[in-house]
Amino acid sequence: MDALTRYLEDHRDAFLENLKAVLRIPSVSAQPAHAADTLRCARHIATHLEAIGMPRVEVVETDGHPVVYAEWLGAPGRPTALVYGHYDVQPPDPLELWNTPPFEPTLRDGKLFARGAVDDKGQVYMHLNAIEAHLKVNGKLPINLKLVIEGEEECGSENLEKFLRSRRSELDADVIVVSDTAMLGPDQPTLTYALRGILYTQIEVTGPSHDLHSGHFGGAVQNPANALCAIVAALKDGDGRVTVPGFYERVRKVDPKEREMLRAAPFDERGYLAESGAPEPFGETGYSTLERISMRPTLDVNGMWSGYIGEGSKTVLPSFAAAKVSMRLVPDQDPHELFPKFEAYVKRIAPPGVTVVVKNLHGGTPFVTSPDDPMLESARRALSRAWSKPVAMMREGGSIPVMATFQETHGLPCILMGFGLDDDNVHAPNEKFSLTSFYGGTKSVAYLYEELAAAVPAVR
Ligand code: BES
Ligand code: MN
Ligand code: MN
Repeated sequence: MDALTRYLEDHRDAFLENLKAVLRIPSVSAQPAHAADTLRCARHIATHLEAIGMPRVEVVETDGHPVVYAEWLGAPGRPTALVYGHYDVQPPDPLELWNTPPFEPTLRDGKLFARGAVDDKGQVYMHLNAIEAHLKVNGKLPINLKLVIEGEEECGSENLEKFLRSRRSELDADVIVVSDTAMLGPDQPTLTYALRGILYTQIEVTGPSHDLHSGHFGGAVQNPANALCAIVAALKDGDGRVTVPGFYERVRKVDPKEREMLRAAPFDERGYLAESGAPEPFGETGYSTLERISMRPTLDVNGMWSGYIGEGSKTVLPSFAAAKVSMRLVPDQDPHELFPKFEAYVKRIAPPGVTVVVKNLHGGTPFVTSPDDPMLESARRALSRAWSKPVAMMREGGSIPVMATFQETHGLPCILMGFGLDDDNVHAPNEKFSLTSFYGGTKSVAYLYEELAAAVPAVR
């Protein structure tokens, strides 16, 4: 065993303790009440980066939550990797469904349970572990590294773009590396080459100026809850297709070669569906489950509220109803172009007797990179060294909005090397990170830095 691998093996417990420490900080970016915690988390990571020997570390203020930036540039002539991750987490609600508190990391059956365990603190710390190991064992890194760890990914990365653009020349690199995606199975190393984009909206329907007695007024005026249901019901047809005119206009045709590749991917469809707990699969006619969650767009209600939802019955005709509706987008759909089409359609199909407001909460452009990019070879080699298994390529159904921004600002090959699993409960109660993923991922990242040292940077 080489000295680097030895170090990684010997320091597993310390790596775990370091991860637990950062998981105790409730850096919920969406909730203003946690702004101070989010700042504390950024500072905590910066302090850790200094402790492991990063020579330049900064907590950079933005109009929102800060960005943690660090660099090590001691390998002139060698490639430079820009590593991106996020330290913010989703709200932990509903709290009563957690078996142990979300910000008290707990180890059970080789899995670490906490909000942020896999998304994305655990995966960010794989990189910090790998950096530490290289610096401790060799006194240097095999490549130059620039680390951007942001605090607003879970609420749309609004202020990151400004940071990236204002520091563009300083952030020059040869490759972008991100660990914030999943594997096709617990021992199946996976590289992701596409992510879906997103358009997140809110539909607000107002009828009477105040709640009414549903007997005295029922039948005489439009009910906003009924109206909202009619709108939502019309957004998709019986074949699972979105009915917004022009929605599919820019969707790329499924390439038969890629379809074949996806068909051959080691995707455990049964396990995936079992994990969902749904009685049966459902989706767009003519596409497989994997295609439905990767290369096809979709539309979903994320939440709806109106009227009386307490115990027992209350006879009331609500004055207001609302729904949060998100669309997952695929290349070359554009959230900015789609929003006005969505808004116009919702208003057109709205029943009479109500006023409808459609809000654009946030958007992210879909992302795809070539699965054959030579830079991905380094990642393939690193992953097969760490997992002794050939690497699978996949398209992810989730979104990382900054990836499309990186394509614009940097135009570089992107390595999306993530280690999440289908049963990690991402964004849900009892989020966890398997230690096999944490340690295997740490090893993969440490090897990736080595493999990238030999990669030839693209001429730009
Ligand atoms: N890490 C996820 C994206 C992801 C989810 C990758 C599942 C692989 C599997 C990321 O943190 C995320 O949750 N993104 C949000 C973006 C949104 C808030 C703009 C998403 O996809 O919902
Ligand atoms: Mn994430
Ligand atoms: Mn997330």
